[in-house]
Amino acid sequence: MCGITARIGDDDSLEDLLVSLKNLEYRGYDSAGIAVQNGTGIEIDKCEGEVSELQAELATKDHDGPIGIGHTRWSTHGPPTDANAHPHTGCKGRVVAVHNGIIENYTTLREGLQARGHEFTSDTDTEVIPHLVEERLDAGFEAEAAFRDAIAELDGSYAIAMIIDGDPAVYATRNGSPLVVGVGDDANYLASDVPAFLEFTDRVVYLEDDDVAVITADDYRVTDTKGDAVSRPVETVEWDSEDAEKGGYDHYMLKEIHEQPVALRQTIHGRIEGEDVVLEEFPPGTFTDIDRVHFVACGTSYHAGMYGEWLLSKWGIDASTFIASEYAAYPAPVDEGTLVIGVTQSGETADTLEALESARKRGARTLALTNVIGSTAARTCDDALFIRAGPEIGVAATKTFSSQVATLVLLGERLVRDMTAEPTDECRQRLDALESLPEHIETVIEDSRAAAISERWLGDDGHFFIGRGNAYPVALEGALKFKEITYEHAEGFAAGELKHGPLALVTEETPVFAIGTGQYPKRLESNVREIQTRGAPVIAVAPRTATDLADTADEALSVPATHPDLVAILANVQLQLIAYHAADEMERSIDKPRNLAKSVTVE
Ligand code: M6R
Repeated sequence: MCGITARIGDDDSLEDLLVSLKNLEYRGYDSAGIAVQNGTGIEIDKCEGEVSELQAELATKDHDGPIGIGHTRWSTHGPPTDANAHPHTGCKGRVVAVHNGIIENYTTLREGLQARGHEFTSDTDTEVIPHLVEERLDAGFEAEAAFRDAIAELDGSYAIAMIIDGDPAVYATRNGSPLVVGVGDDANYLASDVPAFLEFTDRVVYLEDDDVAVITADDYRVTDTKGDAVSRPVETVEWDSEDAEKGGYDHYMLKEIHEQPVALRQTIHGRIEGEDVVLEEFPPGTFTDIDRVHFVACGTSYHAGMYGEWLLSKWGIDASTFIASEYAAYPAPVDEGTLVIGVTQSGETADTLEALESARKRGARTLALTNVIGSTAARTCDDALFIRAGPEIGVAATKTFSSQVATLVLLGERLVRDMTAEPTDECRQRLDALESLPEHIETVIEDSRAAAISERWLGDDGHFFIGRGNAYPVALEGALKFKEITYEHAEGFAAGELKHGPLALVTEETPVFAIGTGQYPKRLESNVREIQTRGAPVIAVAPRTATDLADTADEALSVPATHPDLVAILANVQLQLIAYHAADEMERSIDKPRNLAKSVTVE
């Protein structure tokens, strides 16, 4: 995934472009570049490395101008090098473009261009774009016509921004990759995502696939592929720029862990009334035709989906979770009675989008459970339900997991009422507990001993996380978070599964985090003893009331007692803090772990 941005005004654009690129670094950070047009040509600066390195390079130069584009890259075609960094140009340096996505037919296009005398300077698929446009300009096309005609040649997924020397506009289009216009007072903006320009404007226009936008300093126009005007509303986003900044924390991840109470309040706000769940998008009776639920998702969102599956199964609904990248190849029966829920924070994960598309083609009803209004998943599914967690910048998903699970609890209540039965007393208790969850998370964060425990129990041979029931997806999530940001070996297991193989790996140097929910206590305690017999230290992460588990374990991290269906969300917050503090001690790149990007828009 990459981040693209543009700014066009009457004054210089460089400063705003660099702010936007910094805000987009979560989408990719192996190289960065900008191009500015200043009336005497287009200056391009780009380099391997983070935006700060580009910034340092620019400090020694006098490159600026009112029209600019920028890019932060996460490599797909060609390694991260200065040459492969965007922007890319044609042979004459007249056309300059940045791109997010993959041009599937680039080999054919490149060979054709080379046969017609074009010379390439990078390994990227992107470079074909400025060459194709340049060819059309040379043939006498006007700028917009040249852009339209060139993009008609592209197959694949893309979001593109392009400028042409001497032309007072930014040209943009998208197909399968996000792109949003920012409408400012003194300048207009374009970016892969809203936080890029939130400091400058909160008025946005979400572009749809195949839209072509022509943006000038004081106007913008959106048309379809035929050139006919299309109407895209200007929306005001409610996030403010503070939400997308670090706000005094050392890392976005820590800030976002601390934001969980606020995020959850937003998630729940207005959605519980007395004994009822009120989902504006889904009035009672919405799901009476549904008889089966599939969750499709990746990574952390997959763990949230597993949590949802556990809840629905417990409440009598036929539910299964699938790793999105496997779903298209999985012969699970799907029909019009199947609700396929894509759980995706970004709404842009290619594997999840592909799984949803495969479900749609097979006749299922699709629903996007996402954080991003205007995301591809939200727009392409039959329905969308927003988790309202606010922007998440750290690559490691934290607050969005909690908000995803809370939203699944709410959606589950709607499903259970529509598909099976009237609400029970237990539903009421669960909704009460959900309303108290933000407060409980505040307590967990305030009282957590995770910093001390992570220092004491860093293992040489690995770190295991075990749980049963709803604590099992949290064990997987705890391990994912730990390995993702510490780069240390970590695995999550169903507690009962350890003795069927993985126990062979347990040594005195393998701390095991045992997640208790108050359900199945005896079995978990016996698993803990099996582990201790092999010499491994066990850290219980469990409600205060689970005293037997805490007494059996070598160490305990407690969470407030609440409804057992929800308590694992609290345990997960402790595990987020464990991963964070361990990574911090090891001086890892917490917000931008190596080899990873926030949203993976390639399959
Ligand atoms: O945007 P999505 O929720 O679809 O992203 C799915 C995964 O890539 C994501 O959850 C990933 O596993 C996390 N960033 C890990 O912390």
